Amino acid sequence: MSHHKQAKEKIAGLKKELNAVIVAHNYQLPDVQDIADFVGDSLELAQRCVSIKAEIIVFCGVRFMAEMAAILNPATTVLLSHPDAGCPLADMIDVDTLRQWKERYPEAAVVAYVNTAAAVKAESYVCCTSANGAEIVNATPNEEVLFIPDQNLGHYISTKTDKKMILYPGFCHTHARITTKEVELAKQRYPQAEILVHPECRPEVIALADAALSTSQMLRYAAQSNHRVFLIGTEEGTLYPLRKQNPGKEFHVIGDSFICPDMKKTTIEVVIETMQTGSNVVTVPEEIRVRAKQAIDRMLAIT
Ligand code: 13P
Repeated sequence: MSHHKQAKEKIAGLKKELNAVIVAHNYQLPDVQDIADFVGDSLELAQRCVSIKAEIIVFCGVRFMAEMAAILNPATTVLLSHPDAGCPLADMIDVDTLRQWKERYPEAAVVAYVNTAAAVKAESYVCCTSANGAEIVNATPNEEVLFIPDQNLGHYISTKTDKKMILYPGFCHTHARITTKEVELAKQRYPQAEILVHPECRPEVIALADAALSTSQMLRYAAQSNHRVFLIGTEEGTLYPLRKQNPGKEFHVIGDSFICPDMKKTTIEVVIETMQTGSNVVTVPEEIRVRAKQAIDRMLAIT
């Protein structure tokens, strides 16, 4: 039996034994996506985790995503696939810094990208993802919005709203690294391609794209498009479902590599170890959980 097949059988056995459900983000390694019961973008994963009825959710992704599952589904134990899978963007703002910014802009509603810690969400009015940012900002009652922590997503949303947006200067290393030059080069190589980028890319990169989309929105867009070739401006894990779901189409990542090191920490072996040892339990103090849940629930009610 192949190593891969053996690992898959092991996981199937552990899932039964533990009454566990495995969810994975679109950025996860192909092997890991294959063993998941559900794969999606941040928004779909949050929506799905609300209603999972199991003893355990094994979350293959990064910490803030697993935290959201723990916040939304407190009856279920959430295990993060890898103990050190974090998000440098989420780490760019903490509660004390957010409080200082709130004092500076007392009229503004805080809209927190889900790429934030639970304690930061707890200090925010509403959350958003890359799939619903403009919709959420437009639905806030205030005229002024303090958007944290991704300035590129915030800038993109500001082109779709009349609200006054104050942008906190955070960014994603993986997405902000892509330059207009790399987009131009890719375009020269594949002149017929449609260009889809993530809104965490720089504004000048987004300006060269046909669309700025969340990872799952890219999957839907590519399926419906008449184009055959696509240039993708997001973490290369997304190429796996893009290719699987669109066998007649061609997908190329922009630049020479597009990798989120934290998303790549999870391998099948890591998932097996986490399940066998029941480690990496994600907990959120109840006082923070209920307030963070308010901000996430507001988002889910609007979306
Ligand atoms: P999506 O919500 O588009 O899947 O993006 C998640 C993310 O963290 C992007 O870096």
